Amino acid sequence: MTRTLTLLLALAAFFSTAHAQDVQRGSTKVQMCIGCHGIVGYQADFPQVYKVPKIAGQDAKYLASALTAYRSGDRKFPTMRSIAASLSDQDIADIAAYYAQLGKPGETVPATLATPVPDKLRTALATCVSCHGVNFSTPTDGTIPRLAGQYADYLEVALKSYKVEGNPHFGRANPVMGAMAKPLKDDTITQIADYLATLPGEVRTVPQAKFK
Ligand code: HEC
Ligand code: HEC
Repeated sequence: MTRTLTLLLALAAFFSTAHAQDVQRGSTKVQMCIGCHGIVGYQADFPQVYKVPKIAGQDAKYLASALTAYRSGDRKFPTMRSIAASLSDQDIADIAAYYAQLGKPGETVPATLATPVPDKLRTALATCVSCHGVNFSTPTDGTIPRLAGQYADYLEVALKSYKVEGNPHFGRANPVMGAMAKPLKDDTITQIADYLATLPGEVRTVPQAKFK
């Protein structure tokens, strides 16, 4: 009886992990990502020229939620939409797990803010820390991205995209960030993006050869 039970428990554990995210499996599914996300400073040219975001070191939950948003069309960026459309839920879980740990450095960033928020941005950034963390690298939930050290030009495009409505090719539907971004003027967005990019962060682009 006990042996049967042990066997059943072992089988149950096996089947539940068979569907869990898997870093090793993820590493075999990123060939089509490397051409953009594996080249430091690689640029996109729509809707303007800006750097492809650093994705290594984001939380797996955020990576999965971003990929799911491209797949569903909540995020409209055309290239990422068509790429995400080819991914199953299992692919997304594996790829997210892979990028979350890729190139992870031994040390984490300081828990406190490295450079004080400039006076002119104090009001605009006051609410952001409650979700993105006091150092902009310790979000309060896995589905919220790290912003510190991300490319400035990408942060600018991302923030502006939350303001866009009714454009079939550009924009993001996330209602929380919509409410946050819409009151911000474009030049304030540029200043916020420039500041966040200077902070020490955990997100990175890990150079990878296309064929290993
Ligand atoms: C042709 C270049 C290109 C390829 C190939 C590509 N990406 Fe992207 N990716 C981009 C660009 C540009 C963005 C920013 C889009 C936007 O503004 O929303 C992006 C955004 C993302 C984001 C959101 C990042 C964030 O901070 O919100 C994730 C996650 C992502 N890509 C993962 C992947 C994965 C995984 C693959 C492979 C399956 C992949 N990408 C392939 C160019 C690419
Ligand atoms: C209530 C929680 C919350 C608050 C407050 C908040 N954010 Fe966010 N932020 C999020 C979430 C959740 C996302 C991911 C949305 C998505 O999936 O597109 C996000 C995404 C972002 C992104 C996109 C990053 C990327 O990698 O694509 C930027 C930039 C950003 N926030 C900046 C800000 C700024 C600046 C403020 C303050 C004005 C702010 N956020 C306030 C929750 C929040």
